[in-house]
Amino acid sequence: MAKKFYVTTPIYYPNDIPHIGHAYTTIAADVLSRWHKLNGEKTRFLTGTDEHGKKIQSAAEKQGKTPKEFADELIPKFKDAWKKLNINYDRFIRTTDKEHEKVVQEVLKKVYDKGDIYLGKYEGYYCTACEAYYTEKDLENDCCPIHKTKIEKLKEPSYFFKLSKYQKKLLEFYKKNPEFISPDYRQKEIINRVKEGLNDLSISRTSFDWGIKLPFDKKHVCYVWFDALLNYYSGADGFWPADVHLVGKDILWFHSVIWPAMLLSAGIEPPKKVFAHGWWTFNGEKISKSRGNAINVDELISIAGVDALRYFLFRETPFGEDGDFSKKMLIERYNNELADKLGNLISRVAALAEKYELEKTENKLLKKLKLKEIEKHFEKIEIDRALNEIFAFIDNCNEYVQAKKPWETHYKKVLYELSDSIKAIAILLYPFIPSSSEKIAKQFGFEIGYKEIEKPLKENKIKRAEILFNKIK
Ligand code: ME8
Ligand code: MG
Repeated sequence: MAKKFYVTTPIYYPNDIPHIGHAYTTIAADVLSRWHKLNGEKTRFLTGTDEHGKKIQSAAEKQGKTPKEFADELIPKFKDAWKKLNINYDRFIRTTDKEHEKVVQEVLKKVYDKGDIYLGKYEGYYCTACEAYYTEKDLENDCCPIHKTKIEKLKEPSYFFKLSKYQKKLLEFYKKNPEFISPDYRQKEIINRVKEGLNDLSISRTSFDWGIKLPFDKKHVCYVWFDALLNYYSGADGFWPADVHLVGKDILWFHSVIWPAMLLSAGIEPPKKVFAHGWWTFNGEKISKSRGNAINVDELISIAGVDALRYFLFRETPFGEDGDFSKKMLIERYNNELADKLGNLISRVAALAEKYELEKTENKLLKKLKLKEIEKHFEKIEIDRALNEIFAFIDNCNEYVQAKKPWETHYKKVLYELSDSIKAIAILLYPFIPSSSEKIAKQFGFEIGYKEIEKPLKENKIKRAEILFNKIK
């Protein structure tokens, strides 16, 4: 049976159009999904939108719309952005989907029947922009530590989930599954906070009604995070447990503490891994709508095209760490790496191969490609390091062209080795730059598939083609 791979992105709040941050996680999931598909695995890639809660309700009210109407207008903008970025998801889930709502109610019922939910009274702080609870000591000058906006003080009856009961079980779970929280440098902070103790979590509200009703008390709507996290399970379509939830570091707590506790309570197997990546800033500043630097997907694509963007986001910063986005760096990397290194290699080899016939031989150059390392990097979601290895091999190929000078004498075998190596490069780069890889495959006559890397190149009719990456001034 083929191995399976199930990857998810956070489901985004459709309170505005998607920006670079949303694009980043979604492209990363697409890269992983394409990589596993390339390997012949049964792959599922789930993304979607998080539509309940006060945040969406308030945003809708400001425009005089119902929350559902408001979300319905924004969903096409997300789908359209993902289409433009060549994102190949298998399902777009909305938390307003009926099947999802049903699953949330079933799980609530299970957890309630188990005795892990009780009625109490919530008194404390809540940031609607975060959709998160805060304690007095979290606040900065009475404001939300993330949004720096004034924070609401709530006092209302609420059902609580016995999160505290799961402290020990969670700590055991982390110990048994040391790769659950990734990258590993993010583990310690979470584990230490869990060790300090867990408060029970307020999971219902009565002061507004845009949410899923609790099956055991219809006056309450479910807390938006309890609802949202369950999308991964309700949208799994037989693929549960997820192999990896990709998330930003802002929401690691929800995914690595609350989520597995909910599942432990409901008797559902937890996911295999939660990987938290860093934050993009823009010219050194935090990306936010109020600063007006939430650079949108159309603008991002207009700089150097879709593939250049997909490439740049994983080339510029180690996946996991924070990065600063600058147009200038994108253009520099596009010119120096995609155009000069990769593009030139392809056009030189294609021009010579068109002129001279290739002669099949053992591809000794390919021995320089560190395939096993690349596989390991993908396994550990070190996406940037996989890309580094591929580019190290592109350098090897360019050096080979220089050293062998196949244009001085007709080195038919050298040209074969180079063309066959270009096949490997294009296949490995396919998760990052799918449409460019497809063009190269057509030009050099091979199929995109992992097994093709080690099969000899068949085609002997390689043609010059239009330049893949035109330099940008
Ligand atoms: O948190 N840099 O949705 P959200 C990198 N609905 N990634 C960024 C980013 C940035 N500057 N800004 C946003 C929610 N992201 C919840 C999730 S999941 C069950 C519910 C990405 O619309 C990153 O993945 O606020 C971050 O975690 C996510 O968008 C937050 O999206
Ligand atoms: Mg957010």
